[in-house]
Amino acid sequence: MVSDSLACVALLAGVGRRMKSERPKVLHSLLGRPLGWYALTRAMELRAEPIVAVVGHQGEAVQTEMARLFPGPAIQFAIQSEQRGTGHAVLCARQSLLGFKGAVLVLYGDVPLLTEQTLQGLVAAFRNSDAPLALLTCRPPNPHSYGRVLRADSGAVRAIVEERDATPEQRRIEEVNAGVYIADADFLFEALHSLRPNNAQGEIYLTDIVAKAVAAGGAITVGVAAEEVEGVNCLADLALRAETLRSRINAAMMANGVTLEHPATTFIDEGVEIGPDTILGSGVAIGEGCTIGSRVVVGQGCVIRRSVVGDDCELKPYSVLEGAVVAPRCQVGPFARLRGGTRLDEGVHVGNFVETKQAHLMRDTKANHHAYLGDTEIGERCNIGAGTITCNYDGFSKHVTRIGSDVFVGSDTQLVAPVVVGDNALIGAGSTIVRDVPAGSLALSRAPQSVKEGWVEDRLKILKRTRGDKEH
Ligand code: UD1
Ligand code: CA
Repeated sequence: MVSDSLACVALLAGVGRRMKSERPKVLHSLLGRPLGWYALTRAMELRAEPIVAVVGHQGEAVQTEMARLFPGPAIQFAIQSEQRGTGHAVLCARQSLLGFKGAVLVLYGDVPLLTEQTLQGLVAAFRNSDAPLALLTCRPPNPHSYGRVLRADSGAVRAIVEERDATPEQRRIEEVNAGVYIADADFLFEALHSLRPNNAQGEIYLTDIVAKAVAAGGAITVGVAAEEVEGVNCLADLALRAETLRSRINAAMMANGVTLEHPATTFIDEGVEIGPDTILGSGVAIGEGCTIGSRVVVGQGCVIRRSVVGDDCELKPYSVLEGAVVAPRCQVGPFARLRGGTRLDEGVHVGNFVETKQAHLMRDTKANHHAYLGDTEIGERCNIGAGTITCNYDGFSKHVTRIGSDVFVGSDTQLVAPVVVGDNALIGAGSTIVRDVPAGSLALSRAPQSVKEGWVEDRLKILKRTRGDKEH
């Protein structure tokens, strides 16, 4: 009886020399997620168990990041301490699969555009056949750098030959190895054991198991659209793959009722959620970890990361939100900057050139122009005048400003923290508040205005006289 169990081995150990980067290839970011995340996510979607991630080059960093993104026991790690090729990398997962009977899906960590559907198709084709191995193949417009699929006259697969080991004639073959395989576990490890590094790179090639499978009963191939198997070998590839993923995400957003005024310049990361009837202007970037509600208007050029924006908000152009939580019906910007720990309750207005950080503004409070509100809690229905600044830093540590509800803070006020302003208080414009203001009181701290009538005319007379003296 054929077992239904499915395991997955994802190869994340390679050096990625062609990236010309210190950072391991699988940790390069693709729409807010490290490249290697994509293979592991597909394995999770297929409910493979166990999923073994083979790490090696800067393995500790790769493992730490993947364990952070996939907490819990779902992903196991195997170490390939020397990068001796893709076949050797799969062998390194053997220990984690001891006693496993069933099918093993092998994914490369640098092929991020594969879809769950395609992989389901491969699994189904494998299960419906008696062959010990099935693999995906395609015909990309430029087969350069891929392994080529060799077929017998009958059309049956014979083997894969890597570009570097191929004859000029073999290089003309258009069908290539996508680098996605599913094999019977017993066959796979037996075949891998018998492989030798007899090739241009002196590596143990996983691709050589294809010829082994042919000898053991045949290998079957499943065709796939070339776009899906395009890999990432250099930074130019990474940018092109990002382009494709981005248009997929944008198309899915539009299919769900989100208006994109200019899809070509709309940058939405993997994992972002946006409600229907929300409108995104051109040049909007919404990063990983964001949830945007319904009927939100996001103006041109807004950049939003790690933030939540409630229904019916309006983010006017060029506002930047990082780590902010914005309740429904708020208005933000243009040119506002909401930094980490900003919390706006319903109906709050934060206008142009207002910067907030660790700031909680409660219901219907307004800070409409030019202000810095940091380490502060502001009650309901307050009016924070233009140019208000919370002086939260004394050169050593940060202090908190607490403002009650229904407070009017006049323009150009400095609140020197720690300081508390009670409910219903009124602070006169231009004040520097260094002591607590009790509820219901008026606080003013500015020099009394003096007026000298006729002063300007008198001064002019003096000036004229002194100049006249000099001319003589
Ligand atoms: C590989 C295939 C090629 C196929 C192409 C599809 C081999 C020998 N060749 O070539 O037929 O057309 O993918 O994209 O498999 N890795 C390790 N340990 C190693 C070497 C690599 O974990 O020792 C990992 C890498 O991190 C990467 C993946 O395996 O995620 C593929 O390695 P790479 O060197 O990019 O193979 P290609 O030359 O692209
Ligand atoms: Ca590759």
